[in-house]
Amino acid sequence: MKDQEQLKRDAAAAAFEYVRRRLDDGTVLGIGTGSTANRFIDLLAPLRARIGATVASSDASAQRLRAHGIPVLDLNVVDGVDIYVDGADEANEARQLIKGGGAALTREKIVAAVAREFVCIADESKLVRVLGRFPLPVEVIPMARSHVARKLVELGGNPVYRQGVLTDNGNIILDVHDLMLAEPLAMESAINDIVGVVANGIFAHRPADRLLLAGQNGVREL
Ligand code: A5P
Repeated sequence: MKDQEQLKRDAAAAAFEYVRRRLDDGTVLGIGTGSTANRFIDLLAPLRARIGATVASSDASAQRLRAHGIPVLDLNVVDGVDIYVDGADEANEARQLIKGGGAALTREKIVAAVAREFVCIADESKLVRVLGRFPLPVEVIPMARSHVARKLVELGGNPVYRQGVLTDNGNIILDVHDLMLAEPLAMESAINDIVGVVANGIFAHRPADRLLLAGQNGVREL
């Protein structure tokens, strides 16, 4: 029986194979954040000579890439991102996601928006019928914390301040419990409309293009 750590490695290895087949000298890779993305970063080292450049969705991932000798560029200096590889906290069959467990959701959304292709990697425990069991991370400008929390309650959620966490952008995170996301597109927009919200962790307007799910019998693609 494979444990969750092995399944994350399997998903990362499948993404690595996918990327390896498509790499050419100019390929710009978007690199996500979290434990599954870290497994992917660690596999990339032998390919560093073949990677044009990377952009990272967090300072932590940029640091890990550089530690492997892999160049990391500012998103503003590249013409585009060819393939973005990242994990997720939850996914549904439509490849819509909840992300942000690692507090990197805003930069992840930006890289996903720029990417021509978004490959999401996860172990199969992340697949759900309806998104929302995982508390939804919302990045908020610090002075708007109480205002945003009240508005999230009006939307039916139960926001909890993530103590001691500041994002790479200097903001705070509210984790919203008890929101069942039967209509992820509408809820993503509604939360974005609250003044003081920087971004929320629903990836429905920009879902993954490929979802590689690792299970006991191998990796399957949705
Ligand atoms: C980071 O902010 C998140 O969006 C991660 O992609 C997500 O939390 C998945 O992380 P793991 O791969 O560690 O489960």
